[in-house]
Amino acid sequence: MHISVIGSGYVGTTIAACFAELGHTVTTIDIDEEIVAALSAGHAPIDEPGLEDLLESHAGDSLEATTSYDAVVESDVTFLAIGTPSNDDGSIDLTALEAAAEATGETLADKENRHLVVIKSTVTPTSIETVLEPAVTRGSGGNENIEVGMNPEFLREGSAVSDFMQPDKLVYGTDSEWATERLHAIYEPLLADHDAHIVETDPATASMIKYANNAFLASKISLVNDLGNICKEFGLDAYEVMEAVGLDDRISERFLRSGVGWGGSCFPKDVNAIIAAAREEGYDPALLEASVEINDRQPERMLELLEHHVALEGSHIAVLGLSFKPRTDDIRNSRAIPVIEKLQDRGAEVVAYDPVAVDPMRERFPDAEYANSAAEALDGADGVAVVTDWDEFAVLDREFDAMDEPVVVDGRRIVERRDGIVYEGLTY
Ligand code: UGA
Repeated sequence: MHISVIGSGYVGTTIAACFAELGHTVTTIDIDEEIVAALSAGHAPIDEPGLEDLLESHAGDSLEATTSYDAVVESDVTFLAIGTPSNDDGSIDLTALEAAAEATGETLADKENRHLVVIKSTVTPTSIETVLEPAVTRGSGGNENIEVGMNPEFLREGSAVSDFMQPDKLVYGTDSEWATERLHAIYEPLLADHDAHIVETDPATASMIKYANNAFLASKISLVNDLGNICKEFGLDAYEVMEAVGLDDRISERFLRSGVGWGGSCFPKDVNAIIAAAREEGYDPALLEASVEINDRQPERMLELLEHHVALEGSHIAVLGLSFKPRTDDIRNSRAIPVIEKLQDRGAEVVAYDPVAVDPMRERFPDAEYANSAAEALDGADGVAVVTDWDEFAVLDREFDAMDEPVVVDGRRIVERRDGIVYEGLTY
């Protein structure tokens, strides 16, 4: 099949490369000339394991990149993978996606064969019917050969390519049997040696499945953090408790790691967007609001634990880990941001370290100090806040000798407890 993919961000680039790997002919379209040049040369604009290899082997062959929408007409199916950022009130900002939908419609105005436009971006349940479908129709002058569907993604940063190739489920949100068959034909090659559940539904339900999925996972962590805070109050170890709880297969042992909370480009944005959408419908989503509140509270708890041992005013505090999770340099909504903000508000000097995310954080906090290694950050520090579970923090040992009285507050249960260190787990 010939597929066009509009938007070459993390989702668009990953799905384009993977569609090419599945044997399709793919054209990516992006307004950013630098990204298009990188893709044309087979280089990934983002750092994602396995992506560069796929691009190298398909670029210039079954995978092409361009800034022109003309390629849309030649294709059978167009995926829209444009970012859906948040407005100030947390609601979804569809401006860029709506413009892309309209431009896609314009390109398809005279198309005589049936064409499927698939929304890959995460959108609220009413977005397709009230904003995106009308934008396509407006652009195309009402060309009835065009149909709009929804196919949400469940890719994690850092394992997006393998998540694509081995999905738990594929969700086809369409209004016709024809569109469902089209989507299925795209994914069929990966089902040859991998079992995945196929969910066939309508576009609004498909949109909601994505939000419900992320809201569930984020709330699962917030619930574990709430229980973890209670464990800490009782002097109990939340990890021991949750290990036993996870043995119940209705709960599962995954996503039970308590600590400083969830971040990234998806959970915070998506949970807030579905809260805002629900409120707009007149419903007050109390549990999701509590999930966000608990998540906002965890960095403050980290500071309170640190303050039990260190007077923060004028102190030097090492912040270990700046990315929102290990194996990425992405700092979007990283818990390190509120931790550094709160430390600075209380008059502490922050010395931050991360194996890959120092540069983006330096832009965010130019007045903090940045170390080249964990050892350098610890040297002379009065306390340590561990925010990201990078493997290298698990083997820190003699590095603590460079602190007068080592105090470690661990938000990810990654540092190993040892004699001579005052060690506080956030939830254990
Ligand atoms: C998340 C979802 O896991 C993907 O399924 C989804 O496709 C993606 O959002 C999206 O909507 O695009 P991602 O943002 O890459 O993926 O990050 P996760 O690996 O899910 O981690 C999110 C946050 O939760 C991180 O800050 C992580 O440290 C935290 N976390 C995760 C915990 O605090 N405890 C856990 O047990 C697990």
